[in-house]
Amino acid sequence: MENYMKLEIAALGENESFARSAVAAFALCLNPSLSELSDIKTAVSEAVTNCIVHAYANRSEKDKILIECRAEEGAQGSILHITVTDGGCGIEDVEKAMQPFYTTLENDERSGMGFTIMQTFMDGFSLDSSREKGTKVSMFRRINAAPSNKGEIKERVDA
Ligand SMILES: Nc1ncnc2c1ncn2[C@@H]1O[C@H](COP(=O)(O)OP(=O)(O)OP(=O)(O)O)[C@@H](O)[C@H]1O
Ligand SMILES: [Mg+2]
Repeated sequence: MENYMKLEIAALGENESFARSAVAAFALCLNPSLSELSDIKTAVSEAVTNCIVHAYANRSEKDKILIECRAEEGAQGSILHITVTDGGCGIEDVEKAMQPFYTTLENDERSGMGFTIMQTFMDGFSLDSSREKGTKVSMFRRINAAPSNKGEIKERVDA
């Protein structure tokens, strides 16, 4: 059976580290290496930070982020699928937003590298956004651990 999890969190800064650790903990079911796990955490961190920083300009207690993960196990290795969705302001020009160094928060010490980092650290990435409705980041990462090492690696990786 395919494994999955869904997680809804308030769009608050203090939940960013929780979100990346929760995804990493879920990813353990696919027996990742430390470097695969670290890449996944980096990408999730960027996606969740974007929801917190950009999606909800007028803060409200209803601001939320939905994180969904699906673990796909196959003979040639496994794949972790992740989506991060917000119901915020949306992105006007998705192509532009994905360009390196493009940011709408220049004065806020943002470097405009979040989407570039997600694309670099993951094996697949796509961005879906509509104005006033929200934004969905979909990405996946291949996990190539050999099934026979499952027990050993799990002991090494402690999310
Ligand atoms: N969830 C979102 N909702 C609305 N706008 C977003 C969202 N995510 C990103 N954006 C827009 O896309 C731009 C580019 O995002 P990106 O993560 O690449 O850079 P950044 O967040 O500005 O800077 P950095 O990630 O380097 O701190 C943002 O400046 C913002 O305008
Ligand atoms: Mg960002």
